[in-house]
Amino acid sequence: MASWWISSLYLVFLAINSLLNPTSVSSADSNYGIGVGIADITGPAAEVNMMGYAKPDQKTSGIHLRQFSRAFIIEDKTSGNRTVFVSIDACMGAQSVTLEVVKKLKVKFGDLYTEQNVVISGIHTHSAPAGFLQFVLFQVTSLGFVNQSYMALVDGIVESVQRAHGNIVDGDIYMNSGELLESNTNRSPTAYENNPAEERAKYEYNVDKTMVVLKLVDNAGTDLGMINWFAVHCTSMNNTNELISGDNKGYASYLTERHFNKGAAPGKGKFVAAFAQSNLGDVSPNTDGAKCIDTGKPCERNSSTCNGKVENCIASGPGVDMFDSTRIIGENQYNKAMMLYSNATMKLSGPVQFMHQFVDMTNVTVQYNATFKGKTCKPAMGFSFAAGTTDGPGAFDFSQGDTKGNAFWKLIRNFIKKPSDELVECHKPKPILLPTGEIDFPYPWQPTIVDTQLTRLGQLFIIAVPGEFTTMCGRRLRDNVHQVLVNNGLPANSTKVVIAGLSNTYSDYITTLEEYQVQRYEGASTIYGPHTCQAYINQFKTLAESMVKNVKLPPGPKPDLLLNDQVSFLSPVIFDGKPLGKNFGDVLTDVKSDYARNMTVSVTFQAGNPRNNLKTGDTFLSVEYQDASGKWIPRYTDADWSTKFRWERTETVLGHSEASVTWTVPYNATVGTYRLKYFGNNKEPVTETIQSFQGVSSSFKVH
Ligand SMILES: *[C@@H]1O[C@H](CO)[C@@H](O)[C@H](O)[C@H]1NC(C)=O
Ligand SMILES: *[C@@H]1O[C@H](CO)[C@@H](O)[C@H](O)[C@H]1NC(C)=O
Ligand SMILES: *[C@@H]1O[C@H](CO)[C@@H](O)[C@H](O)[C@H]1NC(C)=O
Ligand SMILES: *[C@@H]1O[C@H](CO)[C@@H](O)[C@H](O)[C@H]1NC(C)=O
Ligand SMILES: *[C@@H]1O[C@H](CO)[C@@H](O)[C@H](O)[C@H]1NC(C)=O
Ligand SMILES: *[C@@H]1O[C@H](CO)[C@@H](O)[C@H](O)[C@H]1NC(C)=O
Ligand SMILES: *[C@@H]1O[C@H](CO)[C@@H](O)[C@H](O)[C@H]1NC(C)=O
Ligand SMILES: *[C@@H]1O[C@H](CO)[C@@H](O)[C@H](O)[C@H]1NC(C)=O
Ligand SMILES: *[C@@H]1O[C@H](CO)[C@@H](O)[C@H](O)[C@H]1NC(C)=O
Ligand SMILES: *[C@@H]1O[C@H](CO)[C@@H](O)[C@H](O)[C@H]1NC(C)=O
Repeated sequence: MASWWISSLYLVFLAINSLLNPTSVSSADSNYGIGVGIADITGPAAEVNMMGYAKPDQKTSGIHLRQFSRAFIIEDKTSGNRTVFVSIDACMGAQSVTLEVVKKLKVKFGDLYTEQNVVISGIHTHSAPAGFLQFVLFQVTSLGFVNQSYMALVDGIVESVQRAHGNIVDGDIYMNSGELLESNTNRSPTAYENNPAEERAKYEYNVDKTMVVLKLVDNAGTDLGMINWFAVHCTSMNNTNELISGDNKGYASYLTERHFNKGAAPGKGKFVAAFAQSNLGDVSPNTDGAKCIDTGKPCERNSSTCNGKVENCIASGPGVDMFDSTRIIGENQYNKAMMLYSNATMKLSGPVQFMHQFVDMTNVTVQYNATFKGKTCKPAMGFSFAAGTTDGPGAFDFSQGDTKGNAFWKLIRNFIKKPSDELVECHKPKPILLPTGEIDFPYPWQPTIVDTQLTRLGQLFIIAVPGEFTTMCGRRLRDNVHQVLVNNGLPANSTKVVIAGLSNTYSDYITTLEEYQVQRYEGASTIYGPHTCQAYINQFKTLAESMVKNVKLPPGPKPDLLLNDQVSFLSPVIFDGKPLGKNFGDVLTDVKSDYARNMTVSVTFQAGNPRNNLKTGDTFLSVEYQDASGKWIPRYTDADWSTKFRWERTETVLGHSEASVTWTVPYNATVGTYRLKYFGNNKEPVTETIQSFQGVSSSFKVH
């Protein structure tokens, strides 16, 4: 309710603002070439494990919001240098994806877009299909590699870049930043509190509250797009959710794009708005905090347990349920971003530059000062990793995976070895659960070579990091890079540094040395050991220094694309069946005749497996409105917030399934006559051909 009022006030503000400050920029002034593009990357909406919580039975069974890739190409009109920033509604950027995307871009555009100047950053939704990463640890619950998830990402990202490439116009970029409160909270405060007191005293909060917004306009002042960065996990949807969703950031993008692209379906408008991820390692959106769900009491603070167990210590809020929490945290980001966007006056000017280097993170020596040095380690996961977090506790239960007969896990289980003494020593005080860096069967378990990348857009420097930096490690990183830039003659006040999280390669968490000692989930998941944070700080200082001094760096050791090694135990769709006397698309439970606004309309259909056709750039459902001439006009798709598409297997041997389409009538929907449609595909037995069909509900009135 409160946010609804803020939105309305904001609209009034916008109207007044545009009357008072008509944008007038002449083309001669414009500094950059700007291209924006969006494409659908939605993965399989059935039977595929979701990436993030690593909960084996959390499998996709429908769609709430579609996943999109949002690409922004910025060209320096003086030098011709280009950079590409891509934000994807997926759990993370992945090495397998980045390497393949760059390969495909090379075929289309030659040397224009390479690993040097393309950043692919994940928003970290935990409600999208898994199986697209090439390392074993990230595939255990998805039963190995899932090519359909992978291809949807690769093809969609390439498509979005191609669209951005085709849209480049002269324009300008304005920057603004401000504090967004009540939208994020630290989920490992006892680790944060182990950072030095003097350091903590510099900050008001134990998470970053700053949102940085870029406003992209063409030389006539027309809005082209927005990029913003704000650190918060996309875990408003919890580990019981089975509908594909971009979570709070996906919803914020949806709201922003709907605002600018009046009347266009989601993903079909010109204006593109990325709510990109930042240093979110220890940052939760569940602002009511963790409680024991059985007693309502606070959890034990150090271990996040209730009665010695992690299962019942769960964070939630601020909404009444997970959809409501997603809505609130999404709307908060949307409202703040829109305010900052409309008020953005600092015009970016200066070169577009980029600097990239692959680094073997398992062998970096870190000299802290004259007397203290350390070295990074081969990957390993600590015991607390298995405990999960208060956003999704007990997420990685190996014995459970085993008793449930996870074939992929069984295959590799026997190859788990005792960590070497060297590894144990290197990771101390982390007790090692999985010596991932010492197992290569059937292929590597975690990356050893990662991308490190820095992009410059005038006064703004974007640090693309290959994982989840905690709040404090992120602050140190930004400050150190800023200092290098200032030491090399850049103005302190106007030079801004942001972190683009989960970019290009996924290498889990990065805590400070002090947080690491506490070994909460984030420390246990800092895979290259206690000195990882400092090793990255030094590396990005090197990139920054080389960039401002215009020194070329060697490319570093190139990582392998392991597509040919991938193993998959996810069974394909065998065939779809239907009960005798029924046809695919038949209505099984129909709508009622009348609905008031805010009520939910629902219909179920005889269905086929959504994996038969992902409906990329399309939809599994349509809410149609009947106009005065009797014509049916599509009003909402499966990517809209007000609709939900659910799929359920009802009979395994005969392959029967049902799909439900629900629509919660928006408070401002036009009154009149509507109907709901379902677009499905079924796989024929024996011939394995895939047929398309549709189902239509009876019409109903909204009043
Ligand atoms: C994935 O599917 C594509 C077709 O969409 C195919 O060309 C490719 O070889 C497959 N890759 C793997 C690793 O199975
Ligand atoms: C929690 O950790 C702190 C710091 O290590 C310690 O002083 C305190 O005794 C611990 N509390 C409990 C209940 O274990
Ligand atoms: C997830 O959220 C739902 C409310 O939407 C709640 O009923 C459920 O207990 C939550 N479960 C977990 C494990 O957080
Ligand atoms: C826009 O910026 C001005 C000056 O900094 C400030 O006074 C005003 O409150 C801002 N407006 C909004 C809507 O944030
Ligand atoms: C881009 O342009 C600038 C000139 O402004 C140049 O100094 C720089 O080295 C170029 N290339 C890269 C990769 O940043
Ligand atoms: C680790 O790095 C050192 C110094 O850079 C180098 O001499 C050594 O060969 C490297 N070791 C491995 C195993 O790569
Ligand atoms: C060296 O750095 C370490 C780690 O930050 C710190 O604990 C130690 O006090 C430092 N020593 C000196 C002499 O500055
Ligand atoms: C930079 O910021 C500081 C502190 O906010 C201020 O005192 C100083 O005047 C600013 N300098 C410039 C050149 O804007
Ligand atoms: C419908 O929902 C809107 C916003 O969610 C609310 O303001 C309105 O009061 C609701 N209307 C009814 C009739 O419940
Ligand atoms: C309902 O309100 C939303 C948000 O203000 C707006 O984008 C949408 O176009 C409105 N729909 C109708 C049918 O007026």
